[in-house]
Amino acid sequence: MLGPVILAASRSDRMRRLISAAPVTKQVVDRFIPGETVDDIVPIVEELTDRGLELTMDVVGEDITTPEQATAARDAYLALIDRLRDLGLGERVEMSVKLSMFGQALEGGHELALANVRPVVEAAAAIGTTVTLDAEDHTTLDSMFAIHEELRKDFPQTGCVIQAYLFRTESDARRLAANGSRVRLVKGAYKEPAEVAYQQKHEIDKAYVRVLRTLMEGEGYPMIGSHDPRLISIAQELARKAGRKLDEYEFQMLYGIRGEEHLRLAAEGHRMRVYTAYGTDWYGYFMRRLAEKPANLRFFVRSMLSK
Ligand code: FDA
Repeated sequence: MLGPVILAASRSDRMRRLISAAPVTKQVVDRFIPGETVDDIVPIVEELTDRGLELTMDVVGEDITTPEQATAARDAYLALIDRLRDLGLGERVEMSVKLSMFGQALEGGHELALANVRPVVEAAAAIGTTVTLDAEDHTTLDSMFAIHEELRKDFPQTGCVIQAYLFRTESDARRLAANGSRVRLVKGAYKEPAEVAYQQKHEIDKAYVRVLRTLMEGEGYPMIGSHDPRLISIAQELARKAGRKLDEYEFQMLYGIRGEEHLRLAAEGHRMRVYTAYGTDWYGYFMRRLAEKPANLRFFVRSMLSK
């Protein structure tokens, strides 16, 4: 019951100000967003890659209001990519981007987001890695898929995310699986209406398995974005049945969640990629993590009260 309330709060400016200013917030936020700058994040990237993990990096930020902020988002990713090139980590670390941060919701936003994200995709390709376009709320997805298709003409490795909770996703999965795309499948983290999305956990889980089967049996590269132990073993079984080798799909989980499972899957020989977010505009990302697990909220509230 708490999840939808927290997701509604994730879009509220008043709550953003309140929570961002709370004295203990930073300490709790660090579990999910372990740094604000490239300098903060480099030791974490090195530590995780040393442990046999791969990463996908998210410079947090979304819902920007000016074209200048969109340009700044592009430049933040370019600076990160420069740093990864200097560290020789290009092939182990890819980028995840939210097109809203690249200007998608502004006037002329579709073209603006495409123009801003293209240099990031080019720079990533130049160091031997790639970019995945995150999925945001359902109103943004036609534009996201069109940008994905456009980028794939020159950079076929560009990936995108699909969300099992949306009714449209089974058909998106068939199209993407047929044209050989890299696709991350997640359950979905936004507050979506009953007209477009399953609301019950068991319906979402069932849809996840149907979509996963389509991806595993298709031509593309499935990326299983979930911490759910049941779905992870189903994914292994579906991969085996589809005759996929260990390097023909990968698991992805979020930094700060089930870390021991990251290492276990990597030790079994799986490709395991940790989605690692950093930056100062962490509010929306942090609130979605609270909404996913009420115990996180209880921990957060307890830390505030104990101050
Ligand atoms: P579920 O929520 O059922 O959780 C399974 C178990 O994992 C829980 O019982 C708990 O143990 C643990 N867990 C899950 N979330 C936790 C949390 N926040 N804190 C502590 N424990 C937690 N969404 C989206 O809409 N667009 C996107 O682009 C992405 N991108 C993305 C990338 C990657 C790599 C991942 C793993 C996830 C996303 N998501 C996302 C988020 C996704 O939609 C979903 O909200 C979360 O992954 C939680 O769903 P699970 O599949 O983990 O299952």
